[in-house]
Amino acid sequence: MVISVVNQKGGVAKTTTAINLAAGLTLEGRRVLLIDADPQTNATQVFIHPEIEISPENSIYNVIIKFAPLTSVVRATRFPNLDIAPSHIRLSGADLELAQVYDNRSERLKRAIDEVRNKYDYIIIDNPPALGLITINSFVASERLIVPVSTAFFALSGLVQLQETIQMVRQQLNPELEIMGLVCTFYEKTNVSRDVIRQLKVYFPEKVFQTYIPKNVSLEEAHSNHTHVFDYSRNSSGARAYRSLIKEILARSK
Ligand SMILES: Nc1ncnc2c1ncn2[C@@H]1O[C@H](COP(=O)(O)OP(=O)(O)O)[C@@H](O)[C@H]1O
Ligand SMILES: [Mg+2]
Repeated sequence: MVISVVNQKGGVAKTTTAINLAAGLTLEGRRVLLIDADPQTNATQVFIHPEIEISPENSIYNVIIKFAPLTSVVRATRFPNLDIAPSHIRLSGADLELAQVYDNRSERLKRAIDEVRNKYDYIIIDNPPALGLITINSFVASERLIVPVSTAFFALSGLVQLQETIQMVRQQLNPELEIMGLVCTFYEKTNVSRDVIRQLKVYFPEKVFQTYIPKNVSLEEAHSNHTHVFDYSRNSSGARAYRSLIKEILARSK
């Protein structure tokens, strides 16, 4: 199953969710490929040692722009059953480059993924904070979307635009695409968090995951230690929450 983690807002925990979802699924015995489709390369930096230099040719840039096969850029991580397709800052120009071509510019990533689909149980795509052609490529390649929503502030306005984009993709490019669920992140026992969640449940009944991801410094520290939260601090509140989210995701994958 191909799952994109999306929200055009930055700082809502897309990358954190993509990383820990990918790692957590391997701990449940699944074979996972994490695709970093964000030119900011945050997920790449967590899983690829900083001394290893990734060139544009060895990144997802080459797959989307130059039609390189996905297998030519996929690398094993130091964690079993977890592979990564790294990103490169050059990808930040890919939206413009794609805008100038017309041959299947929205289907590049899907075609590349089709070649490796059978090798993995889950392919998780981390996306940039934008609804440009890279994200559209991810939508076309994906069966399900997971949308992290920060409950630290009112941020529901962007969700209307996100839904319109999903609707456009469903009508024109990928009728299978569905939101698997919305994940409440940066949860705290405050009125703001509670209000955001209450409103989310009004707009998206059935879609909000029961697990809320609390604000937890272990999640941030894991990244700076180049690892996932289950490896860094397996009993932290962040690790426990992501474990519980993964149970829900496995249940919704059937
Ligand atoms: N639940 C959390 N508690 C504390 N810090 C978090 C949490 N989730 C994410 N972070 C931190 O917040 C920042 C933004 O998260 P990130 O996953 O990079 O968001 P996005 O990919 O949506 O921009 C990062 O520094 C990350 O480590
Ligand atoms: Mg990110």
